[in-house]
Amino acid sequence: MTIEEEYQETRKKSKSLYDRAGKVMPSGIEHDSRFIRPFPFYVERGQGARKWDIDGNELIDLWSGHGALVLGHNPPSVVAAVSQQIKRGFHYSSCHELSLKLAELIVELLPSAEEVRYMQSGTEANMLAIRLARAYTGKNKVIKFRGHFHGYWNEGVVGVRPPYEAPMSIGVPKESMCNVLLADHNNSEEVLRLIRENDDIACVIMDPTGHAFILPFNPEFIKEIRRITEDKGIVLIFDEVISGFRYGPHGVQGIVGVTPDLTTLAKTIGGGLPLSAVVGKRHIMELISFTDDQERNRYRRVISQGTHSGNPVVSAAGLAYLRLLADGEPQRYINKLGTMLRKGMNEVIKKHDISGCVHGRFSTARSFLSHDCPYLGKCDGENCHCPDLAKLDAGSPLKVRRKLHLAMLLNGVDYSGGGTGTMFLNAALTEKDIEKVIHAFDQSLTRLKMEKVA
Ligand SMILES: Cc1ncc(COP(=O)(O)O)c(C=O)c1O
Repeated sequence: MTIEEEYQETRKKSKSLYDRAGKVMPSGIEHDSRFIRPFPFYVERGQGARKWDIDGNELIDLWSGHGALVLGHNPPSVVAAVSQQIKRGFHYSSCHELSLKLAELIVELLPSAEEVRYMQSGTEANMLAIRLARAYTGKNKVIKFRGHFHGYWNEGVVGVRPPYEAPMSIGVPKESMCNVLLADHNNSEEVLRLIRENDDIACVIMDPTGHAFILPFNPEFIKEIRRITEDKGIVLIFDEVISGFRYGPHGVQGIVGVTPDLTTLAKTIGGGLPLSAVVGKRHIMELISFTDDQERNRYRRVISQGTHSGNPVVSAAGLAYLRLLADGEPQRYINKLGTMLRKGMNEVIKKHDISGCVHGRFSTARSFLSHDCPYLGKCDGENCHCPDLAKLDAGSPLKVRRKLHLAMLLNGVDYSGGGTGTMFLNAALTEKDIEKVIHAFDQSLTRLKMEKVA
């Protein structure tokens, strides 16, 4: 039986849901990243480091709620906090202490956080952060880095995937694209040139991790961007949607020792429920505040709303979650698992003599198979020297990635949908689980070779 035949054979209930879903949902899915050929699988429950699909297949979950579930599924104290709050009301349309306690904890943990504003998604948080930067500077343009993803709104989809001139989506007005200036990741000279050529720059937005797993993490580059933006009076936004509280309790900013003006947070701060925030320096965040000056409130204030902003159930989850992450112990543990996973998977690649690598930092990993990086074999999976991983990533054959994902599913492991190859570790995983994943990878590559895909 081929990989695809076995997938179909062992996921018949999922297939029948997919047939129904295709009639009422585009491609039968809720999110682009959950698109799998020949059809996606549908999950019934998750617990700890695992989830089970409706056909009863058990999976080690390295997708971890798109990276949100740093502690795995359903940590007991978070379940208790949510269950308790659900009985006390879903939505008060009023302020409550839970979101205040959470804000106090975020301010305590994150160097750049002096004030906090909540919303639901990372996309929204980045939209608001950019609006704040524009309002603060009175300027329009945004410098972002090729390959960095900040969300799916009009300006967010510019410059994410090669060819960078084409946004990730259609339906994006040219005017939005003109407001975004692209620089190469790790190229501060290009940022300086853009600033020299434009006097209308409001902010630089960056995922300081180098988008966590696609581009190399470079503390010196981050420091240089801070120096430049400070010098030029440009707002620096760190998108720590993935890294905030995953890489460590003080974010990448705590690790590198660089404080941006604004930071966006999502994923982890809701403990797996939808919550995001813009946090930052008081003199910028105060643009959202009301004053007694009605004229200023109407014409010189940044608005931020959202029916579910700071929802009490979600705040209860976030607060319980961040309390578990505050001492950094879970992050140290998953970072150690990350090193173990990348090392083991790279050894498997070597054993099979396949071109490719598994690259990443901290508790993330991403597999790049059948590509021709000039540094292959010289890389330890941690300190990538590849000049343009994003380009290689986009060029890495979809067929290989898809087949590998299906094969890994057959071997009991899930990671980012559609087989992009991204893995997020969580603290419910054991070292034995990591060994199982490495073994599953070994088995999967054997099958890929049998089908002459790799
Ligand atoms: C770095 C980064 N920023 C922003 C976003 C968008 O967040 P959301 O999916 O919550 O809108 C993502 C999503 O994966 C992300 O990885």
